[in-house]
Amino acid sequence: MADAPAPAPRRGNPNGTILPLTGNKTRTPPPPRGLDAVFRPRSIAVIGASTRAHSIGGNLLSNLFRSGFTGKIFPINPHASVLHSVKCYPTVGAVPDEVDCAIVSVPKEHVLEVVADCARKGIRGLVVITAGFKEVGAAGAELERRLTELVRRKGMRMIGPNCMGVINAEPEYSMDATFSPTPASYGPLAFASQSGALGVAILNVAQSLKLGFTQFVSMGNKANVSSNDMLTYWEDDPRTRIIALYLESFGNPRRFVEIARRVTKKKPVLVVKSGRTVAGARAASSHTGALAASEVAIDAVLEACGVSRSDTIEELFDLASALASQPLPQGDRVAILTNAGGPAIMATDAVIQQGLRLAELSAGTRRKLAAFLPPEASLGNPVDMIASASDVNYGRAAKILLADRGVDAVLVINVTPVLYGPRTVWDALMAATSGSKKPVLSVFMANEAFYDEARSMPAHPPIYRFPEPAARVLAEMWKIGRWQKKPGGTFRRFRMRSTAIRRILARRKRRGGGYLDPDDAFNLLEAAGVPVARPAYVRREMDLPRRAREVGYPLVLKASGEKIVHKSDVGGVTAGIRDDAELAAAVLRMKTDLARHGALAQLEGFILQREAAGREIVVGATNDPKIGPLVMFGLGGRYVEIFKDVKFVLPPVTREEVLDALSRLKAGVLLSGVRGERPGDREFLVETVLRICQLTADFPDIAEMDVNPLFIAARGRRGVAVDVRVRVSGRDDVSHAG
Ligand code: COA
Repeated sequence: MADAPAPAPRRGNPNGTILPLTGNKTRTPPPPRGLDAVFRPRSIAVIGASTRAHSIGGNLLSNLFRSGFTGKIFPINPHASVLHSVKCYPTVGAVPDEVDCAIVSVPKEHVLEVVADCARKGIRGLVVITAGFKEVGAAGAELERRLTELVRRKGMRMIGPNCMGVINAEPEYSMDATFSPTPASYGPLAFASQSGALGVAILNVAQSLKLGFTQFVSMGNKANVSSNDMLTYWEDDPRTRIIALYLESFGNPRRFVEIARRVTKKKPVLVVKSGRTVAGARAASSHTGALAASEVAIDAVLEACGVSRSDTIEELFDLASALASQPLPQGDRVAILTNAGGPAIMATDAVIQQGLRLAELSAGTRRKLAAFLPPEASLGNPVDMIASASDVNYGRAAKILLADRGVDAVLVINVTPVLYGPRTVWDALMAATSGSKKPVLSVFMANEAFYDEARSMPAHPPIYRFPEPAARVLAEMWKIGRWQKKPGGTFRRFRMRSTAIRRILARRKRRGGGYLDPDDAFNLLEAAGVPVARPAYVRREMDLPRRAREVGYPLVLKASGEKIVHKSDVGGVTAGIRDDAELAAAVLRMKTDLARHGALAQLEGFILQREAAGREIVVGATNDPKIGPLVMFGLGGRYVEIFKDVKFVLPPVTREEVLDALSRLKAGVLLSGVRGERPGDREFLVETVLRICQLTADFPDIAEMDVNPLFIAARGRRGVAVDVRVRVSGRDDVSHAG
């Protein structure tokens, strides 16, 4: 599998030839800049290189030698003159040569002075292994602040502190500057891990899967170099084909989204994000806020930027090793090839559950299969060759399935038969399918000896033990392929009455923020260009019949009161009122219901509204303190949180992105018209979502808003918002991360 990418010329060398790193007196490559000073140095100083073999400093030095680093190595230790047969210097300043990068592993009290030495020496890259900074409390945080400030002031780039180090496995560098016991081989994966300890586990798994790296970095406290910087570093690196991140926190999620959106169009970005919430347990009174604070949002954020999220490192590697060795599928039609019925059923279920389809095999394919398979074999999909299936037949059948135009991917299942060992089946399969333009994923349900044997085979495509993870991987690969091909679309800007919007928000802001009164909320929405069924606000009960005749029957009566948030929950909404008598009855009933819910005292008046018709949709927004505006839309009405049939998008978005999200909602299906209904006005909904995106992005003082319900009329007839709530940020709201 994992064909190691072809060596690329060293950076900074315009001729594209690989320059010798040592012993060349005529041409010296220019000093590396930016992150290249860390990952592609010509020389490294290990400060705190220990005389003790089983110390962190000792391991750092021996790993550099073990990996065969192609540049110069300078151990620094005031108490030694030679380490690993190499001259040792008391300080970095005493090194007679240029030094590009320093690995710092001295006790924390000495880190600042050592880094200042490095700056004086002109060192541009730092990897600070030392722990005892932000992660240990206030004093450590202060030390980290001073360290970061020094690094920034001197124009250096620093990985860490509190990290396990970095690896660049590219053959021209072959640099292992970690204290990990497991080395890394060269391959197409770049990995940034926020946890050092997990980093070792990652290197172990990669080694057993024979998956190689361009670079591996343990990020530590991310005081200077962030995961966002790494994403950017790898974005156009031709050798890095897959980027993987283990994240515990997003330093700057908004920036992550911006970068990831771009990078994922070029190569897959896989993320394991521990901790499932973005906004944490923020109290939120809107539907959108409540859903955004839940786990829905982080998935939405990652999905919105085309990132593949895995729940575990194991899942991530399942996917990474397939991506490293297999092409992306061009469609979602899967053919299953098996020698056992039960696992084929499991595979079928898994494929369907993952949103893929079973391929329809062509008549030609069936004919070709029938020519050599026994009459008991099943030639539909799954193709069940029954237990007697030979290694040769596996190879032949897989080839035939791959040649079928209606097949986008093949899932092979082998349960160890009596006659043919899994190894011979595997070999036949590899011989028949390697180099295929369509992905082939294999599930071998074999005994332990086979998996042990697989570990000693040369690099090979992944072997899954069960159908479910293989199906999940195929689905993710299809998602990645679709995302990469999806046209970017165009961003559209709408005319809005910005002055009016600004004035409404400023008025509320002066009063400390909070909910806009209904009139202002409708004015705001209307100023943003969204049609509203303007409510008539009636303070006195006696004025209701007169105003009702002005609004026109049939109408809806709603309770009005700043503290009444979800009106229908307390009996505060009555629809379908056709005349004065029905109105009087509805008022009476509403007051009784409000009293029953203890909300009568909050009743400040009534709202009369022309009754709208169509599909009920919710469009909402919440301004996450770290991410910025998140806009949600989906099935509206009272049961938004129960059905959770919603998608989040992150402004700015294109019409195409909204349409794509809509197509994956049940609300989208409803809008296209079920059981002979006329389809709803999808374009109107998309436009409204885009307008809310623009509104919330342009006016960050909108902390939360819900347009619910937004009635979508039949196609071409647009629709109307009948209720809207808008909360303006106040003193208690945290501002953006920027
Ligand atoms: N310049 C150069 N060398 C120095 C130095 C300086 N200013 N100060 C100390 N040293 C040398 C010491 O002489 C020692 O060498 P020796 O073993 O030959 O005597 C070596 O640096 C290490 O110093 P020592 O005092 O023995 O510390 P240590 O090895 O016990 O611990 C760290 C140093 C950095 C490993 C430790 O402080 C630490 O942070 N450990 C945790 C690291 C970690 O977990 N990181 C995150 C991983 S995910």
